[in-house]
Order: sequence, then C-alpha cells, then structure tokens
Amino acid sequence: NKRGFIFDLDGVIVDTAKYHFLAWKKLANDLGIDFTEHQNEQLKGVSRVQSLEKILDWGGISISELEFQNLMDKKNSDYLSHIETMKEDEILVDVPKVLTFLKNKQQPIALGSASKNARKILKKVALYESFDAIVDGTNVSKAKPDPEVFLIAAKELHIAPNQCVVFEDSIAGVQAANKADMISIGIGEQDVLGEADFVFKDFSEISIEFLTQLINKQ
Ligand code: BG6
Ligand code: MG
Repeated sequence: NKRGFIFDLDGVIVDTAKYHFLAWKKLANDLGIDFTEHQNEQLKGVSRVQSLEKILDWGGISISELEFQNLMDKKNSDYLSHIETMKEDEILVDVPKVLTFLKNKQQPIALGSASKNARKILKKVALYESFDAIVDGTNVSKAKPDPEVFLIAAKELHIAPNQCVVFEDSIAGVQAANKADMISIGIGEQDVLGEADFVFKDFSEISIEFLTQLINKQ
C-alpha cells in the first residue's frame, strides 16, 4: 500500500517557527503594533504577503505599496539572519526517524510549505535529498488555508489526495489539508490544532505502530 506523506517545513521539520515569530514581532513592534503569541498562531503557515497584511490590519495601519515591499524585505532579511547558521541540530525531534521509516516502507514523501526559503533551509539541514517532491512558496499562487500546495504535492507524488497524510503545525495548514481531503496530523497543541484528525505534541509521540496503521488503512 502506498500513501503520500506530506510534511510542512517550518515548525514541523525544523524549529524555524520561532524565527518567523521573532522577525514578525520585531517588525510589528517597530511599527508600534502589539504582537502576541495568539496572533502569531494566526500567522503560522500563512504566506509572507498575507502575514504582513494581517499585522497591518491589526494595527489599523495603511501604507504604500513601496513601503509594503520594503517591510517584506526587512522581515525576510531579519529572518534569514536567524537561519544563516542553522545546522542539522535544528531538525525537530524524531523527524529523521519518521522519514527513514517511511522511506524504508517505500512511501512517497513530499514537502508542502508556504515558505520561499524552503529549499535553502532543507539544504542547510541536509534533508533536501529526503523528499520525492518539494512544493513551496515559489510554486503556488494560493496560500494555505487554500489546499493548492498539498494538491500539487499529491500530484507530483502520483498519489490521490484522499490517500495522502499531512503533518502540520499551523491552523491554516490543517485547514488546507482537510480541504484537500487528506488525513491531517497536527504537530503541536490540541487546543490550537483541534481541527486536525490527530494531534501529537511532536514526532516522539508518533509510534511506528501508528505509522504502520496509516500506511495499511484502506
Ligand atoms: C510558513 C511559515 O511556513 O511560511 C510562515 O509558517 C511564513 O510563518 C511562511 O510566513 C512564508 O515563509 P517565507 O520564508 O517565504 O517568508
Ligand atoms: Mg508550519
């Protein structure tokens, strides 16, 4: 039996969600806008453009297109400064174990990320070769919660969407997976990711038995 296993990147494969948070918080605070952890949850999985739109909206601020572009560039260079020195040790717990298990079971594996920095990060942590398909922010026109990124990933894996499993740490990403008719697995807190079919704190909570059941499920 073959399923398509699709992984989000930030906050699922690597611990970069904290760097996105730091960069957005700095930008928001510099604009005099308060930025809470709760607001941050609403930005997870969301594209760079839409994230900035939301922050400006929260602050009731409107700016020119040029200034918007400048702020996006600023956020990204701040973010990139955090990931500059990133190494394999920032891969989240038990991710390699799960990837290796799925590979040994000949299960197709894809990345489905909103980030335009996804390929760069995968190379930094030496996981670029672990995926049969990579779909990221440079390949999509519609951001999560739209299912586009996962549907393209399924297509590239040659697996029907309803035979795919998605690992996500964001509300928007779980909603995208559900809309794509895929099994959604939330990585994080149950009270945040309650819309997912299953929620685990991290991959150390996901057993080989659970993965085997997913593969064999009709
Ligand atoms: C998602 C992150 O994976 O990618 C978001 O959860 C981020 O926080 C989005 O805004 C876009 O990423 P990037 O790297 O293209 O700015
Ligand atoms: Mg994420």
